[in-house]
Amino acid sequence: MSEKVSITINGNVYAVDKELTVLQTAKSANINIPTLCYLKDINEIGACRMCLVEVEGMRTLQAACVFPIREGMVVYTSSPRVREARRMNLELILSNHERSCFKCTKKSL
Ligand code: FES
Repeated sequence: MSEKVSITINGNVYAVDKELTVLQTAKSANINIPTLCYLKDINEIGACRMCLVEVEGMRTLQAACVFPIREGMVVYTSSPRVREARRMNLELILSNHERSCFKCTKKSL
């Protein structure tokens, strides 16, 4: 039996397995965190930074897909700071992109 920890996301407290990431915890609580590069067990490198969340006590935003939870952690998934950072990251990604997504063969991967 796995050990449980208590984590607060957007003001609600959840008791979850301590082995989970912030993203997995949020998904289990039906909280949507946007992702681009994350693909469970295949690509978990935290590269795109679209899943950034704010963790109380941490100076920088964290990639939810690779950030492990710990007891008493307090997370905000949609604060103004988080939304602004995601918007900036998406703009940076798109600035180096051909924007032909509907024709691109990569979409079927
Ligand atoms: S989904 Fe890309 S960094 Fe988390």
